[in-house]
Amino acid sequence: MKSLAVFASGGGSNFKAIHHSIISGKILGKIALLLSNNPNCGAVQFAEETGIANAIFNNSRYPEKKNRDDAILEILQDIEPDLIILAGYMKKIPDSVVHHFKSRIINIHPALLPKFGGKGFFGMKVHQAVIEAGEDRSGATVHFVNEEYDKGPIIAQENVIIDPQDSAESLAEKVLKIEHELYPQVIKAYCEDRIIWKNNQPKIEEAIEN
Ligand code: GRF
Repeated sequence: MKSLAVFASGGGSNFKAIHHSIISGKILGKIALLLSNNPNCGAVQFAEETGIANAIFNNSRYPEKKNRDDAILEILQDIEPDLIILAGYMKKIPDSVVHHFKSRIINIHPALLPKFGGKGFFGMKVHQAVIEAGEDRSGATVHFVNEEYDKGPIIAQENVIIDPQDSAESLAEKVLKIEHELYPQVIKAYCEDRIIWKNNQPKIEEAIEN
């Protein structure tokens, strides 16, 4: 069984969807730790309620960035998770962590990368930009994390259709709904060693039905 570490800063709906897929037996994994910068967020509250170990790394606990980054790397090295899952984490992952866990960190982004990604494209700003650009579709992207925001190799994407009457808020709702399906699917594939690399691009292999 794979060991998973999750980073989250917000409501934690993706974290909850992943947890649900684990307890229902869909994903063969165990969440070893939830890491957050925000002790009051929904994700931390859910971890407390469900007995998932959690740890907070923020300015007030670690005023020095170097100490904070070192502490994050240290706790992750103690667990050595098979996969690190970013689920709405609003801070940059330290480069030392990205290097140590190369090709073992994934993120979900609420748009069809490479469009509408990079620094500044987070939360509702992404959906506002998509609506303002007059796109007729958006979606969610799961990708490996490298040192640059939203630039790592794409593993999977799922589309949603944008209707003329959609607002940034209604689009966000549509996208979040598909995130809750797409992210567990990718994590399930990872836990079953079904993410393979071909020509430096990751790809999900279909599960073999018994
Ligand atoms: C999601 O839209 C995700 O794509 C983005 O942050 C949001 C997190 O939502 N990276 P939640 O905290 O999982 O509800």
